[in-house]
Amino acid sequence: MLRIVVLVLLLNLFIQSECKQFTRCGLVYELRRQGFPEAKMRDWVCLVEKESQRTTNIVSKPNKDGSRDYGLFQINDKYWCSKTSTPGKDCNITCRSLLSNDITVASTCAKKIFKRHGFRAWYGWLNHCQTNLPDISNC
Ligand SMILES: *[C@@H]1O[C@H](CO)[C@@H](O)[C@H](O)[C@H]1NC(C)=O
Repeated sequence: MLRIVVLVLLLNLFIQSECKQFTRCGLVYELRRQGFPEAKMRDWVCLVEKESQRTTNIVSKPNKDGSRDYGLFQINDKYWCSKTSTPGKDCNITCRSLLSNDITVASTCAKKIFKRHGFRAWYGWLNHCQTNLPDISNC
């Protein structure tokens, strides 16, 4: 019996560490911790909600050009991250590192993309976040 309990607990831990979905306020808290500016916070929350449903470990289906998008910000492997085990491309990272529950690497790369292209780099933002932004007043 005890063994089963331990097994279930371990399995739970494994599942949790494999896949993290933030709540809206949990995401706001984490983005603040990563230094995202308050003035654009609702845009970032909207973008993340449309791109990944606030989930850290998702990889998209192949895009038309065969590239894929990774993690919370759905960052593309054509320009920004390396699909190999060696860090590379413009963010000098592996794509796998974008799937971590620790969103530091993904955040740094997202800020770099934003600096170069603004929110227009993300279809999720372009198509859904120009008129109606999420309410984070209770976060
Ligand atoms: C990329 O990151 C590695 C460490 O992961 C570092 O040693 C290397 O100098 C970096 N390359 C560039 C071009 O920034």
